[in-house]
Amino acid sequence: MANKAVISAVNIRKEYVTKKHFITGKIKEKYVAVKGASFEIEEGKTIGIVGESGSGKSTIGEIVGGLQEPTYGNVFYYGKNIKDLSEEEYRNYRKSVQFIFQDPKGSMDPNYKISDILSMPLLTTDIAKNKKEAGKIIDKMLIRAGLDLSIKNKYPAEISGGQCQRAAIARALIVNPKLIICDEPVSALDVSIQAQILNLLRELQKELNISYIFISHDIGVVNYMSDTILVMNNGTIVESGEAKNVLLNPKEKYTKKLIESAFLE
Ligand SMILES: Nc1ncnc2c1ncn2[C@@H]1O[C@H](COP(=O)(O)OP(=O)(O)OP(=O)(O)O)[C@@H](O)[C@H]1O
Ligand SMILES: [Mg+2]
Repeated sequence: MANKAVISAVNIRKEYVTKKHFITGKIKEKYVAVKGASFEIEEGKTIGIVGESGSGKSTIGEIVGGLQEPTYGNVFYYGKNIKDLSEEEYRNYRKSVQFIFQDPKGSMDPNYKISDILSMPLLTTDIAKNKKEAGKIIDKMLIRAGLDLSIKNKYPAEISGGQCQRAAIARALIVNPKLIICDEPVSALDVSIQAQILNLLRELQKELNISYIFISHDIGVVNYMSDTILVMNNGTIVESGEAKNVLLNPKEKYTKKLIESAFLE
């Protein structure tokens, strides 16, 4: 049976307006961050995105997850154009595509305890009917993410970066997503903690059949996590394919350079 595509991106282009006429509002200058990218993400699989800083990796992730609209092109969620989704379908799509970012503390409201941060998505999506029900789900999820339950009463500032990233993973998973967009999820962590978080993500993927978009400037990390890889250069996917093929047998000069510089770090 053919694998189902959770997301298909077709010819995504993103233009940012960088200069407008100060009275007429007419666009005077724009920057093209993504220049027509197409790819598919299958259930339970990981697609890695590598490329230099500014090549458009995060922009692609944000468009796929609905945080930004493409200027041209379309995103399909299980075969349906997200522009054509009903309100309820759109809410379901946004819930089913979650994000994990580089800076877990920055992605959490510092004024709330971890238990509140995790109960919010449960209560707003009706996954839990009340606080008590939410509490049970939160406990299960925190334990699964490798955290002690005492963390519930702490604020993000009171826990370590690794603990906070585990809590962010728990928050992403708590709404039963189909896809998690991981944008440099371990780049800010100590190397020893990085491995723990990557292994946790891999275990969870096996258990729950979730898909990942895994964005990182670290080619070794992307290789460890990904089934397929997209190589981005200046807004264009210059090379893509099975992770091992792309990294062991790069066709493009740009990819070769990227791999070489990774060994020099
Ligand atoms: N809101 C914006 N307005 C103008 N230009 C933007 C905006 N957001 C991003 N850009 C530009 O678009 C390009 C792609 O940005 P993006 O954040 O996707 O890169 P990236 O590959 O994720 O880089 P990094 O590895 O540094 O995170 C960059 O040149 C960036 O400066
Ligand atoms: Mg980025």
